[in-house]
Amino acid sequence: MCGIVGYIGSRTAYPILIKGLQRLEYRGYDSAGIALLDNNNVNVYKCKGKVRDLEQLTNGNPIGGTIGIGHTRWATHGIPNDVNAHPHTSMNGKFVVVHNGIIENFAHLRNELISRGYSFKSETDTEVLACLIENIYTSTNVSAETAVRIALTKVVGAYGLVVICTTEPNKLIAARKGSPLVIGMGHGEYFIASDATPIVEYTDQMVYLNDGEIAILTNDNLNITNLNDERKDPNVTTVDINIDNIDKGDYEHYMLKEIHEQPISLSDTFRGRINPDLKQINLGGITEVLPRISNAKRIIIVACGTSYHAGLVGEYLFEEYARIPVEVEYASEFRYRNPIINAGDVIIAISQSGETADTLAAIRMAKEQGALILGICNVAGSSIPRETHAGIYTHAGPEIGVASTKAFTAQVMVLTMMAFLIGKKRNIISTEKYEEMISNMLKVPQSIEALMKNEAHIREIAHLYKDATNAIYLGRGYLYPVALEGALKLKEISYIHAEGYPAAEMKHGPIALIDQNMPVFVLATKDKYYEKIVNNIQEVKARRGQVIAIVSEGDETIRKMADHVIEVPNIDEALMPLIAVVPLQIISYYVAVMRGCNVDQPRNLAKSVTVE
Ligand code: M6R
Repeated sequence: MCGIVGYIGSRTAYPILIKGLQRLEYRGYDSAGIALLDNNNVNVYKCKGKVRDLEQLTNGNPIGGTIGIGHTRWATHGIPNDVNAHPHTSMNGKFVVVHNGIIENFAHLRNELISRGYSFKSETDTEVLACLIENIYTSTNVSAETAVRIALTKVVGAYGLVVICTTEPNKLIAARKGSPLVIGMGHGEYFIASDATPIVEYTDQMVYLNDGEIAILTNDNLNITNLNDERKDPNVTTVDINIDNIDKGDYEHYMLKEIHEQPISLSDTFRGRINPDLKQINLGGITEVLPRISNAKRIIIVACGTSYHAGLVGEYLFEEYARIPVEVEYASEFRYRNPIINAGDVIIAISQSGETADTLAAIRMAKEQGALILGICNVAGSSIPRETHAGIYTHAGPEIGVASTKAFTAQVMVLTMMAFLIGKKRNIISTEKYEEMISNMLKVPQSIEALMKNEAHIREIAHLYKDATNAIYLGRGYLYPVALEGALKLKEISYIHAEGYPAAEMKHGPIALIDQNMPVFVLATKDKYYEKIVNNIQEVKARRGQVIAIVSEGDETIRKMADHVIEVPNIDEALMPLIAVVPLQIISYYVAVMRGCNVDQPRNLAKSVTVE
C-alpha cells in the first residue's frame, strides 16, 4: 500500500524517482508525487492519477536536484485528489514528507496542532505528521532527525516514511514501523524504497530497515539508530533480483506474463529442493524445525486473499498425507478473536509480499504465545520471513500484477512438498507413494505448458461471458479452494460479482441464483468426487445455467452435458489445484481485458496490503 522512493547522491534524482515510482505503482496508484531538492529550493509536484500524469505535470518545470523523494498513493485518509497526494509539506515549508501507513491518532494530533496555530490543506494523516515534526523542530531547536524521532514517539500507528528538511538540506531522514523500507547502498549515493525493485538496477547491496529504526542518509554516510537514539549496525544483504523479471517484456500486462511464467516459476520453486535421484525432498529453510513440525498437534495456517486459498489447499494436503489436523484462518479474524494456541501448535503464515499487515500481526500474536512460526513467502527479506522462526521462500520471482497468479501456484507447490515430506517422516505415506508423488510433482510445469496451448479456446470462452454480471464457481475436495480462487480472480480484475462454493453446498442456497444468465464454472476433473460433481452439473443444467467445465483430457461424459469444456492434463488429484487454476486465471484475464479494465491495477486495490 503506497510506494515510497528516495535518492541522495550526485545523479539527477528526477529520472530515478520517476522510474522507481513506475516500479512501485503496483502498490498504489490513485495519485503520485515527488519533491526535488535543488540548491536549497524544494520543488513539489503531485497530482491525482498515475505516474504518467505526474510526468506530464512536471513537463517544462524545473526538475533538477540530486536529492528527492517520491510517492505513489493508495488512499487511506482523504479521497484521491491533488491536495491529498504526497509529498506533504509542513505549514511553514520546513519539512516535506512521504509516508506509507496510517497514523491512528492523527485527529488528536491535528487538534493539538490547530490549538498551536497550525492549519491544514489536506485531509491526510501525513500532513499532520509533517506539521508535528516542524512544530517540534521550531519550538525546541533540535536537529531535524531529533525532531522526527520525538514526533514518532507521539505517533500511534504504522509508518514507512522519508523526510526532507529544507533547512538541513543535505540529508534524507527515513523511519519505519510496520511499513517496509529498503536502503540501497551505492558509492557516494543511497537509494531508498518500499521494496527492492526500484533499486536493483543501481545496486544489489541493501539494508532492510527494522521496525523502530531511523536512518539518516547523506551522500556518503548511512547512520541507523532506534527511537532511543541508540546506534544500530546496518545489516547489508545481497539481493538477487533479475531486472528482466520486473519488466513486462513483450506482454501487454504483467498478469499475462506472470500466468505464462508459471511453468518456469514452479520449476524455480522446487529447484534444489528435490534430490537428483528424485527420491527425496529437501526443504533447507525448515530442516532444523522438522522434528517439531512432524510432532505438531495441530497446524494453523494464517493468510489473506489468494494466499488464504493456497492455505486451504494445504489443509487438504496436510490432513491427507501427513495426518496432522489443520485449521486455516483469515489472519484478520485470527489476530483479534483471542484464539486458543497450544504448545505443540505450528503456525504457518502464507504471504506473497511478506508484508500483509494482518498476517504479520497474527504471527506476532502467536509468537508471543510460544507457537513455532513458519513463513511461506515470496519476497525475500520482507517482514514476515524476518519475524518467523523458519520458513520456505516460494521463489516465484517478482509478482507485479495486483491479481496474484504465479505466487498462488508457488505457494501450493511449497505446501505440497511440505505435506509429502512430513507425511514421509511420520510414516504416513510409503516410500513408493512418496517417490511417485515427487515424480508427479515434477510433471506439473509441462502440464501447465500443455494446457496453455489451448489459450485461444479459453479466450473464446472468455469472450462469450465478458458481459456477465454474476458468476458461480464450484469445486469439491482439492478443487474447492480453486473455485474460491477462480471467483476472486474474476471479481478483482473484471468487477463481475463472482462467488465460489463447495459444489455440494449449492443446494443449500446458491442454486436459487441459477437461471439461463448465470455462468457456472465447474471444476470437474477425474478424482474421487467425479460422479458427484457430474450430478452437480446436471442440477445446474436442469435450471438452465451455463456450465463451463474444467475437465480431464478426453472426458466425453461432461462434454455432452456442459456448454463448454476446457480440458486439462490428467494428474494426481492432490496436484490438480496447480493445473486447474490456470484456465481460470486466463479466463479472468481475458474477460477483464475485453471489458476494458485495468488488469494490472484494478480499482481500489493494491498489491501489498500494509494497513489492516
Ligand atoms: O501478499 P499477500 O499474499 O499476503 O497478499 C494477500 C492478499 O492481499 C492477496 O492475495 C490479494 O487477495 C490478491 N489481490 C489476490 O489476487
